[in-house]
Amino acid sequence: MSAKSFAYYMPTRIESGSGISKKTGEFIRELGISNVLIVTDKGVRTANLLEEVEKSLLDANVQYEIYDEIEPNPSAETIENGTEFLQQHKSEAVLAVGGGSSIDTAKGIAVMAVNPGNIIDYEGVGKIQNPPLPIIAIPTTAGTGSEVTPSTVVTNRETSFKLAVISPNLYPRLAILDPILTLNLPQGITAATGMDALTHAIESYTSKTANPISQAFAIQAVKMIGENLTKTYFVGTDLESRENMLVASMLAGAAFAQSRLGNVHAISHTFGGVFNVPHGIANAALLPFVMRYNLPACAEQYKDIAAALGADVIGLTAVQAAEKAIEEVIQMNQSMNIPLNIQELGVSLDALPKLVEDSMRSGNVLVNPRLTRAEDIQSIIENAYNGTLH
Ligand SMILES: [Fe+2]
Repeated sequence: MSAKSFAYYMPTRIESGSGISKKTGEFIRELGISNVLIVTDKGVRTANLLEEVEKSLLDANVQYEIYDEIEPNPSAETIENGTEFLQQHKSEAVLAVGGGSSIDTAKGIAVMAVNPGNIIDYEGVGKIQNPPLPIIAIPTTAGTGSEVTPSTVVTNRETSFKLAVISPNLYPRLAILDPILTLNLPQGITAATGMDALTHAIESYTSKTANPISQAFAIQAVKMIGENLTKTYFVGTDLESRENMLVASMLAGAAFAQSRLGNVHAISHTFGGVFNVPHGIANAALLPFVMRYNLPACAEQYKDIAAALGADVIGLTAVQAAEKAIEEVIQMNQSMNIPLNIQELGVSLDALPKLVEDSMRSGNVLVNPRLTRAEDIQSIIENAYNGTLH
């Protein structure tokens, strides 16, 4: 990397370890908070993942209410309803317990509790006027990284557009990483969220705005995901690999918090908005095709990624090694039953003009390593649809 100036800011306190969520109440008390809104989904409640957290809040004398109406690809309306709920109960902070959807919704509620209008009005970077309520995040999947990022992604149901709200104020105060909460994740979710984390790490590592700190986080995340994801998928209940995935996902989040992402996320968000495709699966299926497109611009970085994923790159040129990185990703997808094209995800090319237009609206295109125009996005989507990796 050439010498260039950069800034680094990441204020989130991280508490990581097996069983650490039992200390949630204690940690929240340390922040001077005595009344929180738990933001979660019904799946988390039925899986009994809230039990220990609730107990710790009671033990620490922290009052709480539960808002569990979170859906995948959460909408502005869900944030609006949650904000009303929070205001009725006068909660001082939000405590997200769940996957990316719960954490992102909690961030939206924390913003809207103290700002006028609708969350959609705050699309973009630095538009939030009043600092949001404190945000505490306990991820129950290893993928989103939202527990350490300054952004939230919201779906505008009217336009079917997934928009990002970004502000340094959106970094959670505290992230609690407890692998026990991820032990019983179904295989499909383990695969989708794990590949989301890998996509974060790869897109961050190669981003035009990567810096030495974000790259250190990103490449370590790639290595840990390469070593642990398939084991997590096939064994499931192995605590050590679950823990490594949770830490890797956080590292990838801390990386892209600095660098933003790239064309995979620019395109995949449009699938989530239009077809309601799960975010991680959309990313996983798109990743090899975007890597193919980007390869001429970042072969050296892809060589690092190939090596981090365990490929033998000794004696190979950067381009040959970069090909191995793409092969490794395809192999991971294949082994975890992720489609090798986006047609199988239910994406239809009838919506192509909207998909291209919405992708180009994403700030992630601007930091993608290879210069990207609308026609490039179109051919990436077409190739991914047909499964053409030439
Ligand atoms: Fe993502």
